[in-house]
Amino acid sequence: MRYRHLGKAGIQVSELSLGSWLTFNDSAAVETTANLMATAYDAGVNFFDNAENYAGGLSEEIMGAALRKLGWHRGSYLVSTKLYWGLREGPNQQNTLNRKYLLEAIGGSLSRLGLDYVDLLYCHRSDKTTPIEETVRAMHNIVERGQALYWGTSEWDAPDILAAIEVAERQHLHRPIVEQPIYNLFARHRFGDDYRTVYEENGYGSTVFSPLASGLLTGKYLDGIPQDSRGANHDFDWLKTELTNEQHLAKTAALAPIAADMGATLAQFSLAWCLQNPWVSSVITGASRVAQLQENLQAATLVDQFTPEVLARIEAVFK
Ligand SMILES: NC(=O)c1ccc[n+]([C@@H]2O[C@H](COP(=O)([O-])OP(=O)(O)OC[C@H]3O[C@@H](n4cnc5c(N)ncnc54)[C@H](OP(=O)(O)O)[C@@H]3O)[C@@H](O)[C@H]2O)c1
Repeated sequence: MRYRHLGKAGIQVSELSLGSWLTFNDSAAVETTANLMATAYDAGVNFFDNAENYAGGLSEEIMGAALRKLGWHRGSYLVSTKLYWGLREGPNQQNTLNRKYLLEAIGGSLSRLGLDYVDLLYCHRSDKTTPIEETVRAMHNIVERGQALYWGTSEWDAPDILAAIEVAERQHLHRPIVEQPIYNLFARHRFGDDYRTVYEENGYGSTVFSPLASGLLTGKYLDGIPQDSRGANHDFDWLKTELTNEQHLAKTAALAPIAADMGATLAQFSLAWCLQNPWVSSVITGASRVAQLQENLQAATLVDQFTPEVLARIEAVFK
């Protein structure tokens, strides 16, 4: 496993990391979660991603229980969480990045995780109704209290990230260092030219999510929705629509021979494609079982195979 700096920050993350959305969601499954995390860790993964609202807080509890079971040295891994959506209804408790919510919510996350601090704390979305100064200062205070070591943004537009950096620098506050955007062969908008200043001039890092477009880019939806897949989850009809999008399925099928020529599965190929972007620090893979993770962890070895010729073949599919 290779490690990359989160932009110009000193902290290093493994090129592939492991996320918990929709997978660490069954309190009976601490054993399964620990197995997934151990498989990743043994392969060199040092970053485990979570969020306050995943499975209504259960995901943090399960990861915390798995970490206690695994007993790793705290210095050897990074844990993140994200705040914004909240766990309760009502003003100041959901869909906000105001000071009251942030300073209270971090305590809840830490207690569910059973940790003294998270390594990375993300603002899970931007909040146009709270002044950016208020959010930046609250995140700074969380870092100063030792409850998070670094902070970042998730799915923020470039101008909002630049505004947060500007406020932090002007007021000598801890600045955000990392964005967590969606990124896969079908979703590239968070790495458009508007982000050049963010990544190149401001040395921002990125930990990207849904690199397999929720599993579409494994090719497993080409013949319909497998029963034991995310697409069969009745709580997420919007995902079912995405996973059965005819145009995306046709493109996925057209990518298969390119992956095969690399000696890779479609999943490995699609993950490695994300990693060949120099603005990407870590690709967060999600897996519902150990065999998927073992397959996906091989992706890091493929990055050098994305020659200009291979990239041109890929772009021909997306014309
Ligand atoms: N910041 C945000 O707003 C945000 C949003 C979404 C996710 N995230 C983070 O990013 C992480 C990764 O996102 P994601 O889970 O959407 O990633 P993804 O890689 O696009 O999808 C992962 C899912 O695809 C299927 N899969 C993975 N590898 C496979 C393989 N080799 N063969 C067959 N199926 C395979 C599994 O689902 P099934 O087996 O159930 O089909 C797995 O759970 C999340 O866990 C979370 O930590 C962040």
